[in-house]
Amino acid sequence: MINQKTAQLTKKLAHSSLLLPRMNFNNELVQWYNTNKRELPWRSTSDAYIIWLSEIILQQTRVEQGLPYFHRFLGQYPDVSSFAAADEDDILKLWQGLGYYSRGRNMLKTARMVQEIYNGKFPETYEQLIKLKGIGQYTAAAIASFSANEAKAVVDGNVYRVLARYFGIYEPINGTKGQKTFQLMADELLDKHQPGLHNQAMMEFGAMLCKPKNPDCAICPVRPGCYAYNNKAIADLPVKLNKLKIRERFFNYFLTTDGETVLMNKRGDKDIWANMYDLPLIETASLLNTEELISLPQVTEFFGDGITIAETSAIKKHVLTHQRLYVRLITLQSPPVKLKTDWFFIPVNEMKKLAIPRIVFLFLEDIFDLKN
Ligand code: ADE
Repeated sequence: MINQKTAQLTKKLAHSSLLLPRMNFNNELVQWYNTNKRELPWRSTSDAYIIWLSEIILQQTRVEQGLPYFHRFLGQYPDVSSFAAADEDDILKLWQGLGYYSRGRNMLKTARMVQEIYNGKFPETYEQLIKLKGIGQYTAAAIASFSANEAKAVVDGNVYRVLARYFGIYEPINGTKGQKTFQLMADELLDKHQPGLHNQAMMEFGAMLCKPKNPDCAICPVRPGCYAYNNKAIADLPVKLNKLKIRERFFNYFLTTDGETVLMNKRGDKDIWANMYDLPLIETASLLNTEELISLPQVTEFFGDGITIAETSAIKKHVLTHQRLYVRLITLQSPPVKLKTDWFFIPVNEMKKLAIPRIVFLFLEDIFDLKN
C-alpha cells in the first residue's frame, strides 16, 4: 500500500520530472491546437523569410494589430532581396506605430546580411539564424522549427506561462536561472517528431486558452495534470521579478508652421526613435510651466530672444518599456532665426511620408490633415 508520504512525493515528482505527464500533455496539446488554432498567413508557409517577418512583427505587437503590418511589409517586399534593397526611411515608415524602432532597423541589417552572405536565401538552421542581427534564441528556434522542422524549442511569454502553471515552477521567468530552467524544460518537452507543430501549439495554447488573466480552465484539455489548477495557484504563476526601473522624461516639442510647411528635426542615432523624424525638442528633467520653459537658455539658443508662443497643448503621456514620456507641443508664432543642422522645413504633404514616432504623429494629426 502506498503511504501518504510516498503519494505526495510521487505527485511532486510527476511535476518536476517531465517524463510521466509529457506524452499525455503533448497529445492533448496538439489535438487542442488542431481544432482551435487561428488560421494565420505565416502558418501556411515554410518560407523562412516570411516566418522571420511575422516573428519580428509579433515580438512587437499582438496578432490582430500585427496582421496589417505583416501584409504591408510582405506586399512591399515579397522576398529578402527586395527588403535588403530598401531605404531605412521606408522601413521605418512601414514600421511606424509599432514602437521600438531598433527592431525595424535591425530587420534591414539582417536582410542585408542574408543578401550578402546567403545570396538572398534566408537561412533555416538555428546555428545560422542565431548569428544574424536581431535574432535571439526564441526567434532562431521559431524560424528553424517552423520552416525546417528543426528540433529547437521556443520559449516566449506564452510558453513560460504554460510551463510555469502546468509543472508548478516558481522560478522567476525573467531571472537568468529561470530562463535556463524553462528552456531546459521546453527542450525536454518538445515533440522531436513534429517540433514546428508542437511549438506553434504551445504558443497558441498560451495565447488563446492559458491566458495571463482568466484562463479558460473550464475547457482546458490538460487541466487534470495542471499543477496551478490543482493547487489554486493560477494567479501566482508565472513568477516575475519586478526589476524594471522606469525613467520619466519630459519632452517639449516646438512647432513652427505657416500652414504649408513645417519645421522638422531628424533625430540622431543614440536615443529612442533613432534616425526618425520629429520636431525641434527641448527635454527637461521635470515638468516646467511655460514661463519657466521659455526662460531656459536652450530656448534662446534654439529660437533666439523674445519668442512668442501661439499655443500650448495639453500633455500627452506615452508609455514605453523602460520610459514614461510626458509630451507637449508648443506652437511658436514665428520661425527661428537660424536652423540647427538637423532641422529642415518640409511641405505638410511630404511630412506624412516620413517615419515619425507615433506620439508626435498624434500631435501633428490634431493640426494637419495627414490622411493619405
Ligand atoms: N506570436 C509569436 N509568434 C507567433 C506565431 N507564429 N503565431 C501566433 N502568435 C505568435
